[in-house]
Amino acid sequence: MKSKCVLVLCLSAFFSLPACSSRFSTVGTQAQHGSVKLAKNLFLLDDYSEWYGAGRVKSTEEFDILKKAFALSAAKGNIGTWLGIPSMQSTEDNHMMQELIAELKPDYIIETGTYKGGTTLFYATVLEKVSKNGRVITIDIDPQVEEASKFDVFRERVTVLKGDVVSEEVISRIGDIVKPGDTVLVTLDTSHKREHVLKELQVYSKFVSAGGYIAVQCTACNVGHNPGNGPLTAVRAFLRRNKDFIIDNKRERFLFSSFLSGFLKRVK
Ligand SMILES: C[S@@+](CC[C@H](N)C(=O)[O-])C[C@H]1O[C@@H](n2cnc3c(N)ncnc32)[C@H](O)[C@@H]1O
Repeated sequence: MKSKCVLVLCLSAFFSLPACSSRFSTVGTQAQHGSVKLAKNLFLLDDYSEWYGAGRVKSTEEFDILKKAFALSAAKGNIGTWLGIPSMQSTEDNHMMQELIAELKPDYIIETGTYKGGTTLFYATVLEKVSKNGRVITIDIDPQVEEASKFDVFRERVTVLKGDVVSEEVISRIGDIVKPGDTVLVTLDTSHKREHVLKELQVYSKFVSAGGYIAVQCTACNVGHNPGNGPLTAVRAFLRRNKDFIIDNKRERFLFSSFLSGFLKRVK
């Protein structure tokens, strides 16, 4: 409890800095106040997963304001980089993926949606530290990995497949690589429309054996630009029929995850 209070105080101090708030738009400033309130609410609960999990947080006024601020920021091109290559992820989610990679030591990380390959490079960089032979398979209809490919670890550890992630050709190529029983961590980041995500879940869950994970990205976008028609709705539909996976809310403990209720663990 003491450490929770210290963190809340630190957050409060950070968000009340005048130099900081002047750099943000009105929405951003509101978001900062909202985030302090949100943090206080969360940390006063003994088990915040009860409240934060299952996408419930998305309906809070505070989190809606935060999401608008994040969307504005992303629209301005304020996305992060890994070793200089754009990585369209929150620091919290990349950190959690790092934890999962270190824990699972996967034989394969399968990433749908490569873009510039900054996140792919991040996964490969971490994987190299914990696994002798682990590889990343990344798929995109238009992979733009010229810069990422300049890194040795990318050339040595990454297989880039060009094509539609749900095409028979791509799926069969992955089937040739991944063997039953391999430890696999999948992350889905192409289209965030319900039907497409559900299809990806159905297809890519087959490559995951017990103990492995699927990280469904942008479940937080189920509101906003994809109201009721996004990844979270797809997750719910998938889990209704597939009892081999559960939502692992503990993976959202860094609070501002875009993967709300999106870390799915295969339990059998
Ligand atoms: C959000 S970006 C991926 C960002 C990347 N994962 C990162 O963290 O930096 C989405 C990517 O999905 C790709 N994409 C969209 N629909 C696709 C599909 N059906 N098959 C393959 N790639 C697709 C786009 O070309 C785009 O590069």
